Amino acid sequence: MKILITGANGMLAKSVIKRLEGNEIICTDVEDLDITNEETVKEFVTKIKPEYIINCAAFTAVDKAETAGEIVEKINADGPRNLAKAAKENDSVLVHVSTDYVFGGDLDVEKDYKEDDPKNPVTAYGITKLHGEEAIIENLDKYYIFRTAWLYGDGNNFVRTMLKLGETKDEINVVADQHGSPTYAEDLANFIGEAIEKKIPYGIYNATNEGYTTWYDFTKAIFEYAGIVCRVNPVTTEEYIEIMKVTQAKRPKNSQMTKEKLKAQGIEVPEWEDALKRYLKAEGKM
Ligand SMILES: NC(=O)c1ccc[n+]([C@@H]2O[C@H](COP(=O)([O-])OP(=O)(O)OC[C@H]3O[C@@H](n4cnc5c(N)ncnc54)[C@H](O)[C@@H]3O)[C@@H](O)[C@H]2O)c1
Repeated sequence: MKILITGANGMLAKSVIKRLEGNEIICTDVEDLDITNEETVKEFVTKIKPEYIINCAAFTAVDKAETAGEIVEKINADGPRNLAKAAKENDSVLVHVSTDYVFGGDLDVEKDYKEDDPKNPVTAYGITKLHGEEAIIENLDKYYIFRTAWLYGDGNNFVRTMLKLGETKDEINVVADQHGSPTYAEDLANFIGEAIEKKIPYGIYNATNEGYTTWYDFTKAIFEYAGIVCRVNPVTTEEYIEIMKVTQAKRPKNSQMTKEKLKAQGIEVPEWEDALKRYLKAEGKM
């Protein structure tokens, strides 16, 4: 298969490229294919005519997005729109990655979000990512949108940050009132690979690892598996902001998304603990 990858230098893209080895893969990032430029995208896709376009490009800095201005909408919404239009003209399938931030994040933690639940993003990142989803749906039928959350892999991420802190500090404070599913980029890349190989029905799929936790319990698991001795104090989001003196975009209390739709396609969704162990082994930390 001929596959065009955008945002190919990013964390998820690295895992996607590895998962799809053996295919004809064309890797691009902002230097060679800026997805915000409609004309360039159209020309590039028309020249290459890929069967699949996998968009791993995004403005992913949630806090910076609050003050970064129109560039966030350009990358997260205009980019996917340009790719969707180019895909339509060239009969390509667009695979796009979105986020739990399209939801309000205030659902009762006894419940989890289904793909079609009402959207109510409350951050610049979430709003622009939702615009990106909408732009694809308006312009194209042949698309997959995978909504993920709490992603870690070969790039800066929460697990690497915690490992560094755990190795240098005696105790740390971690937020215990935000609930979600940590997701290993290798597993998300596998969902994408399986989806296109099995040709599952087009549409939106929640795509995280299985099971739910909090940042606090996730951190305790990281330290336990990596054999790190460091006291972890559970704090509320409000306490964390107060203690760390940070200003940050509003965080979802509940990022839990059901994976029943993905699993109904025969795609295996590993538990987050299992995924974390595989990651720590790959990182040489276990
Ligand atoms: N990291 C997370 O925790 C998380 C959570 C939920 C969803 N997601 C989504 O997963 C996807 C992948 O995230 P990631 O963490 O791998 O991202 P990343 O920040 O590691 O990589 C993004 C890439 O996009 C590229 N890019 C930025 N602007 C571009 C442009 N105009 N044209 C082309 N490329 C451009 C960057 O150079 C970078 O290589 C994104 O869609 C993101 O919104 C991530």
